[in-house]
Amino acid sequence: MPLLELQNLSITFVETKTGSLKPTIFDVSLEIACGEILALVGESGSGKSLTTLAIGGLLPQNARVGGKITFAGVPLLNLGEKEMQKIRGKCIAYIFQEPMACLNPMRTIGFQICECIRIHNSRLPRRKVRQAAVRTLERLHFKNPEEILRARAHQLSGGMQQRVGIAMAICNHPQLLIADEPTTALDSISERIVLDLLLELQRTDGFAMLLIAHNLRIVREMAQRVAIMRRGCVVEFGKTFDIFTNPNREYTKELLGTFSF
Ligand SMILES: Nc1ncnc2c1ncn2[C@@H]1O[C@H](COP(=O)(O)OP(=O)(O)OP(=O)(O)O)[C@@H](O)[C@H]1O
Ligand SMILES: [Mg+2]
Repeated sequence: MPLLELQNLSITFVETKTGSLKPTIFDVSLEIACGEILALVGESGSGKSLTTLAIGGLLPQNARVGGKITFAGVPLLNLGEKEMQKIRGKCIAYIFQEPMACLNPMRTIGFQICECIRIHNSRLPRRKVRQAAVRTLERLHFKNPEEILRARAHQLSGGMQQRVGIAMAICNHPQLLIADEPTTALDSISERIVLDLLLELQRTDGFAMLLIAHNLRIVREMAQRVAIMRRGCVVEFGKTFDIFTNPNREYTKELLGTFSF
């Protein structure tokens, strides 16, 4: 059984003023096995982020979702927001392009990581929560976790902020990590550090990863399978090696052709 299965996923936006419909995602079918890294690749606006937001029930109110999303055998589209909250951040976690999007500038890093842990472990004593936060930061190779816990986001570099974002995503040991362009906002050295960390954590914790990346070198290095998206559809889905060495679709050839390895 796949860990996550999307069957004929469709997303249509309802224009709030006019009521007109804007179909955006069409008939997307995908699956991720436990512990697998699947990359979603496609030009800007092809629907990668929307597809991943649909999985966590994070689409705006005016989005209508069709098809089926099944996670660990549970059909997610039937769940209410309360039930979804138990899954989001616990079984399915996100990392976004801009770490500041998930960090509150007014709160310390410690408060925010502890909050993530507390939400899903309400009976854990404060001291244990703090210890878990320290341990998580150590896993992200922070040498001074106590100092980081006391800091606020603006005191950290972009690479450090993204490592904190990853800490918040993995602190509850998710089965699926969704990373939407996790290194696009970083310089190349920070990018390498963050990618190596993600691979290390993925190997030790064994979570599956849905990775969106524009850099095809990263995709080829990290993913076991690749889905190519275009205009709201998956146009090709297969093993990374096959897609890179012998793409079936003209569009995939074009996309790979624009990239020099
Ligand atoms: N709230 C919304 N209402 C209407 N249309 C939307 C909304 N959000 C996204 N879209 C449209 O859906 C399409 C897909 O957007 P999406 O953000 O998934 O693209 P993407 O593949 O992630 O692109 P990028 O690589 O630039 O991040 C775009 O055409 C976008 O304009
Ligand atoms: Mg996007």
